[in-house]
Amino acid sequence: MIRFRQTRDSQAERDRHADVDLSVDDLIMPYFVVEGRDRQEAVPSMPGVSRLSIDRLVDEARGLYCAGVSKVLLFGVVDDKDKDERGSAAYSSDNLIARAVRALKSALPGMTVITDICLCEYTSHGHCGLLRPSVSEAGALDVDNDSTLPLLAEMARTHAMAGADIVAPSAMMDGQVAAIRARLDEDPQTEDCQVMGYSAKYASAFYGPFRDAAGSAPGDASASWPGFKLPANRKTYQMDYRTRTQGLDEIAADIQEGAAYVMVKPAMPYLDILARATDKFGLGTESAHVKMVAYQVSGEYAMLCAAAENGWLDRDRVIYESLIGIKRAGAELIITYFAKEVAEKRLTLNGYLK
Ligand code: PBG
Repeated sequence: MIRFRQTRDSQAERDRHADVDLSVDDLIMPYFVVEGRDRQEAVPSMPGVSRLSIDRLVDEARGLYCAGVSKVLLFGVVDDKDKDERGSAAYSSDNLIARAVRALKSALPGMTVITDICLCEYTSHGHCGLLRPSVSEAGALDVDNDSTLPLLAEMARTHAMAGADIVAPSAMMDGQVAAIRARLDEDPQTEDCQVMGYSAKYASAFYGPFRDAAGSAPGDASASWPGFKLPANRKTYQMDYRTRTQGLDEIAADIQEGAAYVMVKPAMPYLDILARATDKFGLGTESAHVKMVAYQVSGEYAMLCAAAENGWLDRDRVIYESLIGIKRAGAELIITYFAKEVAEKRLTLNGYLK
């Protein structure tokens, strides 16, 4: 008999045997940004999360920073009237996110500002890139990889010029990291901006609440291609979750293309991918300079909130346990809608769990 219970017989003993901890430095807080002033719109499927105008965002981020979280990820949400087939509002000069970055950086210079790079929040059809007739199915449309790349690069350039520290391409176009990196490297003003690849991003139903928040669900028609059928989902570009090792190949490609951070997304149902990616690319490997990131997505957030609201789970404890699990699998940074709550509760959370 091995007396494992000796390792758990007091709080001090358990603390000594803990391999993993959670720090406010690990957390990245996502925000949805809208046009206007003094706007704050609750997202029904994400209790506690709101779309914020830039002035409200700055106030909110100030509170976040005071609570100890120094990294934010920004998503732009534009009104339907500002969307078009090419997602022009994503990369127009002085676009919404560029203005948000400038406002945040001037109010909170110490805040690391990361911006999401994707067209789906800005296209009238809701897809992450430009459309073209499908090669494999007559009368259907598909998302064109190569013509989308310069638009993503231009979007990244505008955010970097505004002062973004990191740009995070999430469109799942092949070569997106290389295209963005090359564009940023052209100008001394943008060359220090880093790229965080949404490298292993799966076509997941857990993004449902996000699409409510961002108004980015794929639509059903395209004005430029009347009569053509629009792809109903993102399965031709986001990964099939029945693959086991392709996520590692996607991560390897992003590292090769110059990503400084690589991501697995969603987090909780994909901890196997995260753990294997960490073994292959994490600390102690040749790619140790690249940081591993996991995104606990909107559906994971909504699921835990819903169970807690029903009294079926203890909110504080499941938040903490889920984030520890993601760290244990190897994430060095976690994007989570719980970031602010965790920081505000950090003393109670620890005290509570002891
Ligand atoms: C944009 C994007 C999405 C998410 C992050 N970036 C939505 C999608 O791919 O449909 C999802 C994040 C979340 O669910 O919290 N492409």
